[in-house]
Amino acid sequence: MEEKISALRAQLEADRAAVHNKEDLSAFWQKYLSKNGAVTGLTKGLRDVPKEDRPAAGKLINECKTWAEGVYETLAADIAAAELAARNAAEAVDITLPGTPNPTGGLHPITLVKNQIIDVFAGMGFQIYEGPEIEDDDHNFTRLNVPKNHPARDMQDTFYVAEDIVLRTQTSGGQIRVMDAQRPPIKVLVPGRVFRSDSDATHSPMFHQMEGLVVDRNITLCDLQGMLDKFVQSLFGPEVKTRLRPSYFPFTEPSVEVDVSCFECGGKGCSLCKHTGWIEVLGAGVVHHNVLRNCGIDPEVYSGFAFGIGIERIAMLKYGINNIGLMFENDLRFLRQFKD
Ligand code: DAH
Repeated sequence: MEEKISALRAQLEADRAAVHNKEDLSAFWQKYLSKNGAVTGLTKGLRDVPKEDRPAAGKLINECKTWAEGVYETLAADIAAAELAARNAAEAVDITLPGTPNPTGGLHPITLVKNQIIDVFAGMGFQIYEGPEIEDDDHNFTRLNVPKNHPARDMQDTFYVAEDIVLRTQTSGGQIRVMDAQRPPIKVLVPGRVFRSDSDATHSPMFHQMEGLVVDRNITLCDLQGMLDKFVQSLFGPEVKTRLRPSYFPFTEPSVEVDVSCFECGGKGCSLCKHTGWIEVLGAGVVHHNVLRNCGIDPEVYSGFAFGIGIERIAMLKYGINNIGLMFENDLRFLRQFKD
């Protein structure tokens, strides 16, 4: 029995070296440790051992069995560890590789400028109101002191939707809607799309405006100028100055055009300011008494100022865009230049 066992051990040692994976391991188990395996078979051989030698032989068999099971356990653990290592290696992530960036969008220059303007005025306590793009004649013209047949209607080439319905030509109608709904003090911004039958390098049939309206007691042109100074400086830089020029709008009296000192050349004269040192940025004025009256606000008690900013115009000046069409073509080569 002793010889048989040592032969078996030698054989098992030799086979052990050939176990490399789970299949080998299972074959190894079948060969030695299963019901019909060689190690298990030793116990059956006990029958042939003389009775007095059986306890000693039984002990040897048990030792051999324990040893063989130990070998099996070790092999199983090694194979499991090797498999895990192989899987880890296959799934390894090189954290030093640069990532694949997700393409992100950016804000359109019109949105950028619109947000900047809102930021400045929101800081001064302005609220936002948005009126309808399809507007009636009353709000777009008549109650803004532009009655039918008034020559000022020719200042804006209007798209008519129906007899008295237009695509709004200006956000100024928002003033009327706000004053109808709210009593002074009023401080409101009206951003929005407006429409005019006009198209060239600096005009588009659809563009954006930002209306401003302040109505309270004792509001004067000085308040307007102070506020606009703050506004243009935060948009174009702290060294920029403003200048008011007399102008005409039917809904303001007096009316002004607001110029800023050229932020490109500092006022010396360049192609941007057409060698004048000044750039026109918006229209404004003191709200006409008729407009206040049309909204049931007593002009003897209250006064106000209003302004209208062309958003595309500001964006074109600020970013050096020479053709308004670029704003609406959605060419990514153009738009990508505005990503922060
Ligand atoms: N609505 C004018 C336009 O589209 C701009 C404007 C001028 C608005 C003067 C105003 C203002 O509120 O006071 O040309």
